[in-house]
Amino acid sequence: MSDVQIIDVSPRDGLQNEPVVVSTEKKKKLIEMLVRSNVKKIEATSFVHPRKVPQMVDAEQVMKQCKEFAGIEFVALIPNLKGFQRAIQANISEVNWVTAATETFNYKNIGMSIDENFAQFKRIVQESRILNMKVCFSIAVSFGCPYEGEVNPAKVISLVERAVEAGADRIGIADTIGIATPKQVKRLLAEVLQVAQSTPIAIHLHDTRGMGLANAYAALEAGVKIFETSASGIGGCPFAPGAAGNLATEDLVYMFERMGVKTEIDFEKLLEAADFAASLTSNQPLGRIRQVEKRGSLR
Ligand code: COA
Ligand code: ZN
Repeated sequence: MSDVQIIDVSPRDGLQNEPVVVSTEKKKKLIEMLVRSNVKKIEATSFVHPRKVPQMVDAEQVMKQCKEFAGIEFVALIPNLKGFQRAIQANISEVNWVTAATETFNYKNIGMSIDENFAQFKRIVQESRILNMKVCFSIAVSFGCPYEGEVNPAKVISLVERAVEAGADRIGIADTIGIATPKQVKRLLAEVLQVAQSTPIAIHLHDTRGMGLANAYAALEAGVKIFETSASGIGGCPFAPGAAGNLATEDLVYMFERMGVKTEIDFEKLLEAADFAASLTSNQPLGRIRQVEKRGSLR
C-alpha cells in the first residue's frame, strides 16, 4: 500500500503549453513509460478547443490508446459541457472539471463566469451518476492569479463548499502560477480538508519559483494524500502568462521515499519516463534529481 497517491499530469499539463505539437504516438509512449514506472493514475489529455490549445487536438485518440493499459486510472480535463459530451463519447471513467478562484482567470481560461461554470458543473455531476463516471473539481489559481493578484483563501473555501455540495468526487487545489508559500499551503489545505470532510483533496503544484517541494511537504503536513505532478517538471498554462513547469514527479517521489512516505513508484523507471518527457519539449529536464545524476553524484 502506498501512503500517498501521485497523479502524473505530464501528458496534459506538461504538453499543453508546448510550441510544437507532440504526436499521439509519442504521447502514448510517455504514458506507457509512466505506467511501467508504476504510476497508477495519469491525467492523459483535455477535451478543450483545439484552436485554443492545439496540443490537445488528439484527445479522442489519446484516450483510445489509454484503453490498452489495464488497471490504470486515466483522467481527462474538461472545461465545459461540450468537453463533457466528448468525454462521454470517448467512454472515459473520470473527468477533471476546471474552474478558477478568480473571475478574470475563469474568463480568460474557459470564457465564462464562476457561477455559469458551477451551473454546468452541477449538471454534469448529475449526468455522471447515471453513467458511473467520476467527476473531480479543480480550482485553478487558488493562491495567486496573474490578473487579479493575491487570492483571498475565503474564496477558495467557498468554492470547496460549493463543490462538495454539488457532489464532486475529488477536489483539486491548484497553484497554477507557482506563487504559494509553504505557510499558505499548510493553512489553506488544513482548512480545505476540514470543509471537504470525506471528499478527497488533491494538491496541484507548479515549481515556477522553486517552492514546489516545500509546498508539497506543507500539504503533506496538513494531511493531503493526493499530489499532482509532472514527469521532468514539464508544463505550464497557455492562459497564465509566465506560468512555468509543474513540480517534477521524480523530485517528489525522491523526497517522499527518503522520508519514508511510500509511493510504490519505481524510481529508475520514472527517471526514464522523465528523460523521455523532457525530450518531447523544448526544455532541459527541470527536475533537480535528474540534474544531480547527470553530474555523476550519488542519488
Ligand atoms: N471542445 C471542442 N470544441 C468546443 C468545446 C470543447 N470543449 N467547447 C466549445 N467548443 C466549440 C463550440 O462547439 C463552438 O464551435 P463552432 O464555432 O464550430 O460552433 C466554439 O467552440 C465556440 O463555443 P463556445 O461555447 O463559445 O466556446 P468558447 O469559444 O467560449 O471556448 C472553451 C470555451 C472552454 C472551449 C475554450 O475557452 C477552451 O478550450 N479553453 C481551454 C482551457 C484550457 O485548456 N486551459 C488550460 C488547462 S486549465
Ligand atoms: Zn497546472
